Amino acid sequence: MPSADIGLIGLAVMGQNLVLNMDDHGYTVAVFNRTTARTTEFLSGPASGTKVIGTRSVEEFVAKLRPPRKVMLMVKAGRAVDAVIEQLVPLLDEGDIVIDGGNSHFEDSARRTSELGELGLLFIGTGISGGEEGARHGPSIMPGGEPAAWPEVQGILQAIAAKVADGTPCCDWVGAGGAGHYTKMVHNGIEYGDMQVIAEAYHLMSGGLGMTHPEMASVFRRWGEGLLDSYLIDITADILGHVDEQGEPTVCSILDAAGQKGTGKWTVISSLHLGYPMTLVAEAVYARVVSALVDQRLEAAGVLGQGAPTDGGGAGRFGDGFVDDIHDALYASKIVSYAQGFMLLEAAATEYGWDLDYGRIAQLWREGCIIRAAFLDDITAAFERRADLPSLLLDRFFTDALRKAEPGWRRVVAAAVGRGIPVPAYSSALAFYDAYRSERLPANLVQAQRDYFGAHTYERVGRPRGEFFHTDWTGTGGSATSGSYQA
Ligand code: 6PG
Repeated sequence: MPSADIGLIGLAVMGQNLVLNMDDHGYTVAVFNRTTARTTEFLSGPASGTKVIGTRSVEEFVAKLRPPRKVMLMVKAGRAVDAVIEQLVPLLDEGDIVIDGGNSHFEDSARRTSELGELGLLFIGTGISGGEEGARHGPSIMPGGEPAAWPEVQGILQAIAAKVADGTPCCDWVGAGGAGHYTKMVHNGIEYGDMQVIAEAYHLMSGGLGMTHPEMASVFRRWGEGLLDSYLIDITADILGHVDEQGEPTVCSILDAAGQKGTGKWTVISSLHLGYPMTLVAEAVYARVVSALVDQRLEAAGVLGQGAPTDGGGAGRFGDGFVDDIHDALYASKIVSYAQGFMLLEAAATEYGWDLDYGRIAQLWREGCIIRAAFLDDITAAFERRADLPSLLLDRFFTDALRKAEPGWRRVVAAAVGRGIPVPAYSSALAFYDAYRSERLPANLVQAQRDYFGAHTYERVGRPRGEFFHTDWTGTGGSATSGSYQA
């Protein structure tokens, strides 16, 4: 007899914890894992004493589900998702729902939504953030896909999601096709940026100011109680305060070669496709890439020497108040990063025809996920003031915040350059900030160069956009022009 409210395939740590979370909320969950031993261990271990139903085959699994069947996949993103879907499809009936909760690429989710739709099945591609702890006690959930599936799963997904202070769940329908996974991808890109701006603060404090790990831990602890109140600042304080068996800071013995699973890179690739700037996240991705060149960096440090030369590189200002300046540089860069993230979401919504609610998305990220932060309330408020805000940098709260932070931010970037300490996120954010509010940029020269060497044409000051001109720069070029399309 089918008795399960929902089924979950894939019992790695995220899958197990989501099952336990659903069980806590009164749902009966059937589970299946390709390796049966893991199902057995789960049932006799973490799931003992719960209502969880273990199964040994996909057929047995599907037979346990009450119609319309709801199957959640927590398997590795990519081909594994398609492989499991292929196994499931012949066993499912019209109106059944497949939910992919992995970090899938949004284009795969859009494709799966339409492919399964043609078979009468309802697909949801949902971002789930918050790691193990979030999955167990309340993640942020960003579902998208086939809208008709949402009423069927809204109850269960909102029940297991994190809640903001007033009880609103950090889970809501994001949009059709790949919208849920797109939003999760941007979340992850922002996560990369947040981690990089924190890492730069750590580098400046340790390499520039020579602060001890307990000192840095207490600065991050203090920052976590103010404007920077967030999960990533809190765990940074914990990490910097952690010591190994020898009493040494644990973080010092960790190899400085950052890994990545690709979602930050996808964000940047999408921004390039859509022609929107994600400069800070791009720098964060490249900072990981550079860090991973461990052998080359060691050789270069020997050949080129580290930091700035003592004779003329400029000492920079690493004096009193510098920790406060680093705070301001971090905060301002974070504002730029989120502004870029929401600009990208707006560009994607236009491109893919999604009706995204930006203030609500900020609330989906308010609790449960890795980038959860008090600051997200300021973003929601900005979109409440103006729903079609083209950039957070145009909202009065953020313009005031940036004006206040700007002097310290500039001092930090200047001092870091003087000292030879790389701050790619702070400096690229500052360059974006300066470019974005420039009435005039030197792109007129770029246009002239393009027209000079390839007759690519240009638009003119004071003339309507879309009217193109060409100059015969050398007197020998003639009037034939190349096309003026935009990539
Ligand atoms: C989350 C995280 C998670 C992500 C890891 C690792 O929201 O819970 O974003 O989905 O996979 O943080 O990401 P990287 O290996 O790319 O750093």
